[in-house]
Amino acid sequence: MTNANSLHHLTPPQVVRVPVPHVLRRCLPASHEAEAALAALLAGGPLPPLDVHRLSDGLASAQGHAVLRAPACWTDAQLRWAYVVILRHLGQLNGRYGQLFDVMDRGLDHTTSNAPVSKTKAATGMHTDSSDARYNPDLVALLCLKPGASGGQSILASAEDLLARLRQSHPELEPIARRPFPREVVTPGLQDHRAAIEANAIPVFAEDEYGLVFRYMRYWTERAMAKLEMEVPADLTRLFDFIDADTAEHALRFSLQRGDMLIAHNRTVVHGREAFEDLPGAARRCLVRAWVDGFHDSRAQSLSLRA
Ligand SMILES: [Fe+2]
Repeated sequence: MTNANSLHHLTPPQVVRVPVPHVLRRCLPASHEAEAALAALLAGGPLPPLDVHRLSDGLASAQGHAVLRAPACWTDAQLRWAYVVILRHLGQLNGRYGQLFDVMDRGLDHTTSNAPVSKTKAATGMHTDSSDARYNPDLVALLCLKPGASGGQSILASAEDLLARLRQSHPELEPIARRPFPREVVTPGLQDHRAAIEANAIPVFAEDEYGLVFRYMRYWTERAMAKLEMEVPADLTRLFDFIDADTAEHALRFSLQRGDMLIAHNRTVVHGREAFEDLPGAARRCLVRAWVDGFHDSRAQSLSLRA
């Protein structure tokens, strides 16, 4: 993992593209068998062997992300099957919102309800996934089935670079970045539970045994503090403004095409998407989200096997 005291990108960052492992093309189920094969995989069935070292190394590197491009002519079920094979080789799929969650505009508004932004067509703002203090997925993945009519660009930025620039230009803000502040609780049934929101406090920057942990959700933090009638410290607002401005300046922006699988390290990469529009008569935008746990453990295992 890169030392966040120094900026490591001497060249402008770019999207890291990794080919879809060739073995997947050889063992792809036929289109009429793909739904059943996918169901078997999601039920924990056996995986075809796959070497994911290159992908895994890329995700653990300073770039912290990769985009694989599977053939657009594969059916949705074949694409989902290949996606699950790859992700299960990197760790375990988390099932709290279903192992695969279709991110689509469902006509909801997250500003007037507790609907997640993933059910709207709004810009998400830069964030890391999961507002639950007790749960943080290692990897967040998105498979593009339908890119939509307009907008919806993906945005990625490095939290390590962000921290290095914060230390250079606003070192006085690092202490508040390491203080836990409450975040909105969006678990159904707990939304208005004051004690649950108070207990759901997370710092923006922390470290654990695997290195840097960056957890950023400005919208849900400010909303939680408003619900608790807590004053937002001026330094916290300055920190949020810095993060938003810095990521806007340095982020990678790109469009996903059908068959693209974006996988990002949720501890060191902050992500977002632009607003999008589905047009009448055109296919609605649909990205399949998955959360992967145990990525670090799976890497430790594979590294010891290689040693
Ligand atoms: Fe997200």
